[in-house]
Amino acid sequence: MLLLLHRPVVLGLRQACRLRSTPSRLCIGACSTNDSRQPQHPSPSFSGDYSSTRGWKAMGTLIGLGAVLAYHDHRCRAAQESPRMYTKEEVSSHSSPETGIWVTLGSEVFDVTEFVDLHPGGPSKLLLAAGGPLEPFWALYAVHNQPHVHELLTKYKIGELNPEDNVSPTLETSDPYADDPKRHPALKVNSQCPFNAEPPPELLTENYITPNPIFFTRNHLPVPNLDPDTYRLHVAGAPGYQSLCLSLDDLYKFPKHEITVTLQCAGNRRSEMTQIKEVKGLEWRMGAISTARWAGTRLCDVLAQAGHQLSDTEAQVCFEGLDSDPTGTAYGASIPLARALDPEAEVLLAYEMNGQPLPRDHGFPVRVVVPGVVGARHVKWLGRVSVEAEESYSHWQRRDYKGFCPSVDWDTVDFDSAPSIQELPVQSAITEPRDGETIESGDVTVKGYAWSGGGRAVIRVDVSLDGGLTWQAAELDGEEQRPRKAWAWRLWRLQAPVPAGQKELNIICKAVDDSYNVQPDTVAPIWNLRGVLSNAWHRIHVHVVP
Ligand code: MTE
Repeated sequence: MLLLLHRPVVLGLRQACRLRSTPSRLCIGACSTNDSRQPQHPSPSFSGDYSSTRGWKAMGTLIGLGAVLAYHDHRCRAAQESPRMYTKEEVSSHSSPETGIWVTLGSEVFDVTEFVDLHPGGPSKLLLAAGGPLEPFWALYAVHNQPHVHELLTKYKIGELNPEDNVSPTLETSDPYADDPKRHPALKVNSQCPFNAEPPPELLTENYITPNPIFFTRNHLPVPNLDPDTYRLHVAGAPGYQSLCLSLDDLYKFPKHEITVTLQCAGNRRSEMTQIKEVKGLEWRMGAISTARWAGTRLCDVLAQAGHQLSDTEAQVCFEGLDSDPTGTAYGASIPLARALDPEAEVLLAYEMNGQPLPRDHGFPVRVVVPGVVGARHVKWLGRVSVEAEESYSHWQRRDYKGFCPSVDWDTVDFDSAPSIQELPVQSAITEPRDGETIESGDVTVKGYAWSGGGRAVIRVDVSLDGGLTWQAAELDGEEQRPRKAWAWRLWRLQAPVPAGQKELNIICKAVDDSYNVQPDTVAPIWNLRGVLSNAWHRIHVHVVP
């Protein structure tokens, strides 16, 4: 858990602070900046640069640890009594061990550099908040909001945020993205406008259900700001039937259906394809996938009310979003009518995500959720549904999200020659440890996710610690999967001893679904010019502390 602090840890930490060889550095370093305009405490000989810290250490040795601690306490108290002011910019420039790790809570500023390694949830989780506010993380992991955590934090206080710096920026009206919603700072942004971002791996598999604020976001256009009172969904009727014009209240009158569904973008793990050869597209790492509990009206119920039935097996249901580009072209996609009308396929017009109204980034007030199918068909900010003889004419249905042979390039590609991606192939990835990380010897815990499209259940995840020579089956966590309706991922973990004397590990994972589909072992043979369907064995390399 991020920043989770238990009482014993707090006590332990106090002791640790007392025993550390540089007990006063935290406060001294914290109380100092290189901004010479505001001398902060009347104590010029302890300005806090590294040489004076060393001098202070020597003096501490001479006059005794007690004096050092008294000084430390005095400095911390002084920081609390006559707080030093910092700008948000100053805080954000302290986001690495080299610069020091600062965070804010409300208007208070803290230097937690020395606490990072003691963080019970692991340093990497605390580092996610480095240089910015703690609130968004504490909102995700509410266990932090306890008196002893606050008490501990107080010890690291170095000052306050400059009140003038708290003014919210004014809206720039000519910018079509100016009205986009605020996003969670933990998200790793792949593009700001349009907004595309993924959760960091260590948060991605922290929960089976991805919290809304860190659910990956894939937008092609600015986020529309829709009024739920005037929102209407237009559903084209079958011949002889009237078209429907449904308000949110009308949708609520249909039976409410709730399911857990994993959404994955076709471009998930594209960055691994880029390493083989350049591709066109955002550099998604392994986080363009997330899982939520979705609730809404079944599309089959709405289509039935509009008079649709399965008369033509080739027919398609086309969806149009209410987000549009400057020419007025909206995002669109389609799925086969057979899937849309099948109650077992559980296609939803979702208005809730994890018990909340949909967040704006995820399609407020209504989006399509097509279980087992690529994210591109889950049309957000849904404005119109129609049944057509052919697939949607949208660019994103016909000129994107298709797979090709590795030798096809942008000069030879014929988009009409390939089917649009619907069900996705089996997928898995390692979220912990991170590639390049240094781990302790002893036991290693490997964690990750696995999922397959079309409702196919993940039956096994194989993990290798030696580059594929030997394999062990991981433990699967998460909801029980229903036959042919395994819409959501399995999280998995393997705890295994690091072979004695091993200095590095080549860790690999691969999943198997209930049709015995397995992931391909390498990326090159599945490389394609758009970088979609990247599902080769996931490989990471870690170093082992001897
Ligand atoms: N719907 C609309 N209207 N506009 C979009 O840009 N992006 C699609 C799909 N639905 C998109 C959309 C793509 S490519 C994906 S992967 C999913 O939404 C992502 O959904 P999310 O942002 O809620 O994770």
